[in-house]
Amino acid sequence: MHFDTLIINAHIATMNNEFGYGNNTPYGTITDAAMAIQDGKIVWLGKTVNLPKHTADNVIDVTGQWLTPALIDCHTHLVYAGNRSNEFEMRLNGVSYEEVARQGGGIVSTVKATREASFDELYQASVPRLKDLISQGVTTIEIKSGYGLDLDSERKMLAVAKKLGEDFGITVRKTYLAAHATPPEYKGQNDAYIDKVCEWLPILHAEGLVDAVDAFCENIAFNLEQVSKVFNVAKSLGLPVKLHAEQLSDMGGSGLVASFDGLSADHIEYLSMKDIDKMAKSGTVGVLLPTAFYTLRETKLPPIQAMRDAGVNMAVSTDCNPGTSPSTSLLLAMNMACTLFRLTPEESLAGTTLHAAQALGLSEHKGKIAVGYDADIALWNITRPADLCYLIGQSVLAQVWHQGQVVLKN
Ligand code: NIG
Ligand code: FE
Repeated sequence: MHFDTLIINAHIATMNNEFGYGNNTPYGTITDAAMAIQDGKIVWLGKTVNLPKHTADNVIDVTGQWLTPALIDCHTHLVYAGNRSNEFEMRLNGVSYEEVARQGGGIVSTVKATREASFDELYQASVPRLKDLISQGVTTIEIKSGYGLDLDSERKMLAVAKKLGEDFGITVRKTYLAAHATPPEYKGQNDAYIDKVCEWLPILHAEGLVDAVDAFCENIAFNLEQVSKVFNVAKSLGLPVKLHAEQLSDMGGSGLVASFDGLSADHIEYLSMKDIDKMAKSGTVGVLLPTAFYTLRETKLPPIQAMRDAGVNMAVSTDCNPGTSPSTSLLLAMNMACTLFRLTPEESLAGTTLHAAQALGLSEHKGKIAVGYDADIALWNITRPADLCYLIGQSVLAQVWHQGQVVLKN
């Protein structure tokens, strides 16, 4: 056998049930393991001592280090211009959220800055955030539109997302979120705006800029009927759907997204038992966004145990955005999923690998270390996998590969 790259003497958290993940072996761990890469795919996996006769262009001995699937951030608003630290400061100086909004703050201020930014300015503003995520072993990321809210500005955001993926050699999934908020020019005319959202979607899809469709279902955003309209257009185009659901109240959005066989319901602090059952039946992932929960000082916990009991898979993501989660740390989200939501470190890692891949419809290629899967792998200077959740703010990444290519080496 010939390999492009062969990694030997690693401990591998495969997250693969063929190696006991979900059964008798936490993290599907193989100790003193080897992994071979050929043409961007994993082609051999097992104990180093069991390696078949081979030649290899590149052999890397990583004695004592840990390999995991490269991390996947399945819910971000990473492309935006401006920031809202001024609002953060105003609120801490006693100005109310409503007053901030009246002064042109909130989502609308990010929309204004994003519309005003050129393609290059928007790209440059987004690069440091993406670099931060890569520095934590992320090589697959979902990026949403939703701060443009007109055809050209939504296109600009999605095109920046696409270019980031090409330039950094990682996988970027582009999600159309024009139904994020009502732009100022449609104030008080939500239905008319939703008609526009439905009109723009086929146009941007035809330009190759849309992989999935999202919306914000909430009292302060769009109702079930309006979201259904957008989802029906997505369905007619064969696009998968997902939803910002049950973040501030129980609107039944998670049940709606499940009825469309949606990829995920995200936030879900106010998720009901009824909708948990629907999600379990449709295989819709529950995406947890603990940094947004923390930033908003939310106290209502998502129903973690009920999702476990029902067999709803849970993902963990940054929700990187300038309003509710100004974070570019997926490892911090994993830590908070444990400390705030009581996920186990193993569930937290599944949430940024196996289940995050499922939330993006990429389960057949990514999210675990398995023969035939993309060689998206992260090498860590850690003692055991729980360190990824336990440590706060330490740089533990040694190296990360995307489809067999080195993206970053420390
Ligand atoms: O995921 N919930 C809606 N959207 C974002 C926040 C957007 C903003 O405040 O800019 C979120 O939390
Ligand atoms: Fe979000």
